[in-house]
Amino acid sequence: MQEVIKIEGGKTLHGEVQISGSKNATVALIPAAILANGPVTIVGVPGIADVSSLSEILRILNVDVNEDNDHLIIDPTNMKNVDLDQDVVTRLRASYYFMGALLGKYGHVRMKMPGGCYLGPRPIDLHIKGFEALGAQVEYDRGCYTIHADELVGNKIFLDIASVGATINIMMAAVYAHGRTTIENAAKEPEIIDVATLLNKMGANVKGAGTNVITIDGVNHLGGCFHEIIPDRIEAGTFIIMAAACGEEMRINNVIPKHIEALTSKLTEMGVDLEIGVDSVVVRRKEILHAIDVKTKPYPGFATDLQQPLTALLTQVEGTSEIVDTIYSERFKHCLELQRMGANIELSQGSAHIVGPTKLYGDKVTATDLRCGACLLIAGLLAEGVTEIHDVYHIDRGYDDIDGKLKRLGVKVYREYID
Ligand code: EPU
Repeated sequence: MQEVIKIEGGKTLHGEVQISGSKNATVALIPAAILANGPVTIVGVPGIADVSSLSEILRILNVDVNEDNDHLIIDPTNMKNVDLDQDVVTRLRASYYFMGALLGKYGHVRMKMPGGCYLGPRPIDLHIKGFEALGAQVEYDRGCYTIHADELVGNKIFLDIASVGATINIMMAAVYAHGRTTIENAAKEPEIIDVATLLNKMGANVKGAGTNVITIDGVNHLGGCFHEIIPDRIEAGTFIIMAAACGEEMRINNVIPKHIEALTSKLTEMGVDLEIGVDSVVVRRKEILHAIDVKTKPYPGFATDLQQPLTALLTQVEGTSEIVDTIYSERFKHCLELQRMGANIELSQGSAHIVGPTKLYGDKVTATDLRCGACLLIAGLLAEGVTEIHDVYHIDRGYDDIDGKLKRLGVKVYREYID
């Protein structure tokens, strides 16, 4: 038996949607919380499967975890640094943040290779180089990393690629290290600022997050704190694209517009009518939209996580659009699913040419990864008939209450178990 989502197409969406706390911030904030020596309360936690997996890992580490609506209270006071060789570690990518956090706190960690969406090769060599630069020795044996340091000492680390994961992991490993760590060519994503903010509230000394040079001066003690997560810019972007595709008039609330400027400027170029407020975006549908070219880049460039949902919209616009993904050259599996639904897309290495407008038809399709799932939900709304989406666990890993949010916008969506 497997769970599928069925979605009826051809409906116009209207109403409001409230954006949840950022998934990619949350999945780093939870491991970061174990660096404290007292309870950390995180507010605005999205109800997604990745959070359940990380909570499961916390419990393996004997960390006290209490959930109360969107509050997560993490108390690492009685924590034990046990080996993380359980399968739950491979259920998501972000389990790798326990490497930096456990190394930072105990000078030792043993854990399985993390999993996550397949988007082409996703090495973690920069994380490892960072740990080594701080004085750790790293061994890899039969699918498990053992990382050990008698003492962690601050160092200057230049990242060959501005990696989100490596930047956060090195920050966490360095908070208790002796002296100053400098990360050069650091990633600048808003989620990195959110993690640095949490660490500083706990008592760390992290400066420069959000720029490409971050300094961390080691401290001896970190305490508990209270932290509210930033809104999810990728969820916001997904709903804005959905509104441009099939909304009559839709308001997306709890948004930091600055975080999605690369998207909103592209949508404006296409001809989408956007009213950008302080913490909301109102989208009004225009009948004729124009083709655009998009190249994904690290923040503040166009997010790779949004090129997949955007592809569904581009099947409906006049002319040929080009998407080039410079972060993940193989992140185009959603195009094969869209083709099954009638889209006219030509694929080449690292890019897609989408010829529009084309009529889409409901079909059986597969969410090959999280954002492919988001793309298929939008395509399903645009299509004639019913679209049946398989492997929906990918969607549930990253979109909080997606069924409820869609239903409140007028979408006919439901789940079924099939053989
Ligand atoms: N890279 C390396 N070596 C490393 C690390 C990264 O070569 O050690 C390469 C990657 O292969 C990729 C590029 O550097 O080509 C950027 O990867 P990055 O490390 O920035 O990505 P990540 O930390 O693994 C996060 C998000 C992804 C998002 C990317 C890019 C989390 C948990 N994941 O991944 O989110 O696509 O940054 O913005 O924060 C998603 O939400 O759907 C998702 C996949």
